[in-house]
Amino acid sequence: MALREKRVREVWGSRIGVVLAAAGSAVGLGNFLRFPGVAARNGGGAFMIPYFIAFLFLALPLCWMEWSMGRYGGRFGHGSAPGVFDAVSDRRRPWLKYLGVLGITGALGIFFYYIYIESWTLAYSVFALTGNYASVATPEGMGAFLGSYLSGTGGYFSSRLTAYGFFLVTFVCNFWVVYHGINRGIERFCKVAMPLLFVTALVLMVRVFTLGAPVNPAWTLDRALGFLWNPDFAALKSGKVWLEAAGQVFFSTSVGIGVLLTYATYMKSRDDVLLPSTTASFLNEFAEVVLGGSIVVPAAFLFFGPAGTTQAVEGGTFGLAFRTTPLIFNHMAGGPWIGFAWFLLLFIAGATSSVSILQPSVAFLEEEFGFNRKRCVAVIGAVCFAAAHLAIFGNGVLDEMDFWFSSFGLPMFGLIEALVFVFCFGPRRGWDELHAGSALRLPAFFKAVMVVVTPLFLFAILAGWLATDGWKTILMKKVVDGRLAPLYAPEQVPWVLATRLFYLALIAFTCFLIRRAWKLRAASGPGSDASEQ
Ligand code: ALA
Repeated sequence: MALREKRVREVWGSRIGVVLAAAGSAVGLGNFLRFPGVAARNGGGAFMIPYFIAFLFLALPLCWMEWSMGRYGGRFGHGSAPGVFDAVSDRRRPWLKYLGVLGITGALGIFFYYIYIESWTLAYSVFALTGNYASVATPEGMGAFLGSYLSGTGGYFSSRLTAYGFFLVTFVCNFWVVYHGINRGIERFCKVAMPLLFVTALVLMVRVFTLGAPVNPAWTLDRALGFLWNPDFAALKSGKVWLEAAGQVFFSTSVGIGVLLTYATYMKSRDDVLLPSTTASFLNEFAEVVLGGSIVVPAAFLFFGPAGTTQAVEGGTFGLAFRTTPLIFNHMAGGPWIGFAWFLLLFIAGATSSVSILQPSVAFLEEEFGFNRKRCVAVIGAVCFAAAHLAIFGNGVLDEMDFWFSSFGLPMFGLIEALVFVFCFGPRRGWDELHAGSALRLPAFFKAVMVVVTPLFLFAILAGWLATDGWKTILMKKVVDGRLAPLYAPEQVPWVLATRLFYLALIAFTCFLIRRAWKLRAASGPGSDASEQ
């Protein structure tokens, strides 16, 4: 199929580039910025048990389902979830394509705020060289620096223009890359910048481990490591901890976003998808747990103490890393250069992820509506630009978006994918498709996991969350001293409501587009529907 071949060549360079792109998509801000924040917010050790269980029994099986269903759906000319779902059900269930909507809106929704965080890494990279935070010596000071950067008040920055300027540069860079095709950029990142990122992370890890107790003699490294690694079984009762663990592991491995599904559609049946996707997932976990988990969380404990670490996240999930890592640089020789390299490499890793999360919507418009790249960039760019302003200027919107699009949205779409795999694609066809062309054979045990454990477990997590914490979150309440209290400050409530309405409107509008695309397809004749690659 000409368009698909063109996309493989122009966008990805080669089919092996698709697999490298999957690794580039996985390793990003989620590993080094989001993971520490979510882990700290959920009590450190309390979080790690659900996290590992979610990786083995949810993320890995779902990753395999996405590669298997995506590659199959790609043969019929589809590059995004609605078309793939339609194809794997042999077009026997017309309603199924609408369930693919979250595979487009989820990715797009994450982009709305991800791009803003990505711009902070670029800014902090520049600030490391210009010495803006070199004289800040305390965790409180670093918090004030971040607050001033974001609000334009507080002494360090006199307006929000600096933060807005970095956002504009980051936004333009992303769409420039999408417009021109990624070519070999992602492959180069994987081959050069990713090892550099890992080496810099190792340097930071060594420095954290040799910091001693910089603030309080009781806040030592062994207690800092214990904060993340001492399991807390009592917390397993909380539905929110399980949901956030699943959401984080999905966010980080790029599962449940729709990205892997889209990448898989560009693979041929003789290409091995199982071994590279499994390798990329484990590589991502190494980056997240071993490297990411050994820098920000222990450093936060050393500087903030146990209670302070959890409190420091209350101002925002992603903020923890920006409050702690610059302090590490300020405690080491060559700190400005290491700080510059670290945040720049994070920016590049973030960019390869953010560009990837635009791909499902680009594929949807190109392949279902025949848009050219210019029109895609104009339409998606306009939507993202407008929505990003909600995340930048709305009080509490960024974390609200992060919760609904990521912590909730990814497990939700994961459940839909698992059900489609089991009941529409069929376990045998899915298992055979996954292994076609692969050098690796999974033990049969994993087939049972994919068919039974993953969907049931995801259902239990979502239902458990709804029963324990979900209804409170929906009603904007939290429990304080045994009583229900408001979850948000009064000035945040209109923003939170606007974000939720926007989320629902985006889903409804994308469903309308799916309907339209299928009508157009039907109108252009039967031959347009199902042609093998
Ligand atoms: N997987 C990407 C990340 O972790 C979205 O940043």
